[in-house]
Amino acid sequence: MDLQSFVTIQKEWDIVAARQLGRDIARKIGFGTVDQARIATAISELARNIYLYTDTGKICFEVIDNIDHKGMSIISVDSGPGIKDISQVMEDGYSTSGGLGAGLPGVKRLVDEFDIRSEDDKGTEIRAIKWVR
Ligand SMILES: Nc1ncnc2c1ncn2[C@@H]1O[C@H](COP(=O)(O)OP(=O)(O)O)[C@@H](O)[C@H]1O
Ligand SMILES: [Mg+2]
Repeated sequence: MDLQSFVTIQKEWDIVAARQLGRDIARKIGFGTVDQARIATAISELARNIYLYTDTGKICFEVIDNIDHKGMSIISVDSGPGIKDISQVMEDGYSTSGGLGAGLPGVKRLVDEFDIRSEDDKGTEIRAIKWVR
């Protein structure tokens, strides 16, 4: 399996492709079905945000396979408008679209590590990591 891969997000269908690829990688590296579903939901939320709020971006996947740590990172990168107030969007209830995954606070809960970097008019990079237990 490739250690790195990505899906460009431009059309709504690309969200499905990212979700599918991410779930396949998760299954291959040994996540159980519940974690596979969590990962797929997190990917959908991140990809939908790129689709809704930016012109283009990508969802990248990296397999982490160290001696004591196995997992995957999901990295959402775009060159959109950026998120002005990160602490505000991370509050529960801020999410506007009412998706299944409850927006970015939902993504944070679904993974083990979560980090957002965003710059006005330059874009946003969100890194999420899930460890196989
Ligand atoms: N990649 C992004 N680029 C720019 N703005 C974003 C991005 N992702 C999220 N946002 C902003 O953050 C808000 C909160 O996102 P989210 O928690 O996913 O909730 P929702 O998409 O339901 O509004 C969005 O309404 C949008 O204004
Ligand atoms: Mg959203």
